[in-house]
Amino acid sequence: GSSRRATVRIAPDVAGLEEAAAILRAGGLVAFPTETVYGLGADATNGEAVAGIYAAKERPSFNPLIAHVPDLAAAQRQGVFNEAALALAQAFWPGPLTLVVPKAVGCAVSDLATAGLDSVALRVPAHPVAHALLEKVGRPVSAPSANRSGRVSPTAPEHVLGDLDGRIDAVVMAGPTAVGVESTIVSCLGEQPALLRPGGVARQDLERVLGQPLAEAPHHGGEQRGDAPLAPGMLASHYAPNAGVRLDASHVEPGEAALLFGSSPVEGIEAARKALNLSPSGDLAEAAANLFAMMRRLDESGAPTMAVAPIPEWGLGEAINDRLRRAAAPRG
Ligand code: TXA
Ligand code: MG
Repeated sequence: GSSRRATVRIAPDVAGLEEAAAILRAGGLVAFPTETVYGLGADATNGEAVAGIYAAKERPSFNPLIAHVPDLAAAQRQGVFNEAALALAQAFWPGPLTLVVPKAVGCAVSDLATAGLDSVALRVPAHPVAHALLEKVGRPVSAPSANRSGRVSPTAPEHVLGDLDGRIDAVVMAGPTAVGVESTIVSCLGEQPALLRPGGVARQDLERVLGQPLAEAPHHGGEQRGDAPLAPGMLASHYAPNAGVRLDASHVEPGEAALLFGSSPVEGIEAARKALNLSPSGDLAEAAANLFAMMRRLDESGAPTMAVAPIPEWGLGEAINDRLRRAAAPRG
């Protein structure tokens, strides 16, 4: 693991962001908000700094990381955008979309951050604090979710501190995030853009802009291949709470925690240890925003298992169900 250090709490004001940018430029680790989840940032051009991310997260393998930049012009200095990539960037940036594109000549992102691939994952986040920070750093910032490996992603600075206090240099304290699930990742390497990870931009919205269906990921939902992760390098068991997770539950066993959706009655709910509703009105964007924080709160109830109501598989439901399936996957 990494050595203990004091983690500074930074306010999201001009002076605070100057300080956060200085720490990043000096090779330090700073957690910062994006509209999806909090990221654990390091200077993407500094291999040693990027190595610090893996150490702090206790990430078992060197997965490629997303490089965050303030705008499309900065992205085009790092990667080559074909017609589809450009259309998606123009439609959804800034926003919860990551594009995997060929590295540009002179791409400054370190080989460790791209895991030696000749492609790079680029994202322009919409969160004003992230945008201001990236402008001040003036270099691409690698940032996976700011949680220990295998844990639920952080949607509030308190979650980051719960996992990483004393292991990173600073956290920008800017409240809860709005989207709540990670960015959608689209590979624009082939003829037909491919969905590598469902996320904060719905498949239907991407396909409307592209005018064609997205291809499936080469290893959809599968285990990461150690040396050449074509699909997003996420272990099948990910986002794992301590409690076991039971999906598509139509009833709750006594003593279970319950994660509900919508207003349909759920059998046995009165005997639940704790019950939370992702969205009583059945709004998938609200459900995505609540997902990880509610999973943490149900986990803290100490219930041995979490019964999860069925979630529709359209719009942001695809990303929610993807994360829930990973949370329910057998633990490694
Ligand atoms: O919302 C988000 O995307 C958050 C915030 C902090 O921006 N970040 C995030 O990063 O989720 P991370 O590292 O957890 O996810 C990055 C994913 C990995 O699954 C990785 O395999 C994939 O992006 N990836 C990165 N570079 C790639 C590449 N060149 N080819 C294919 N997949 C790549
Ligand atoms: Mg993550």
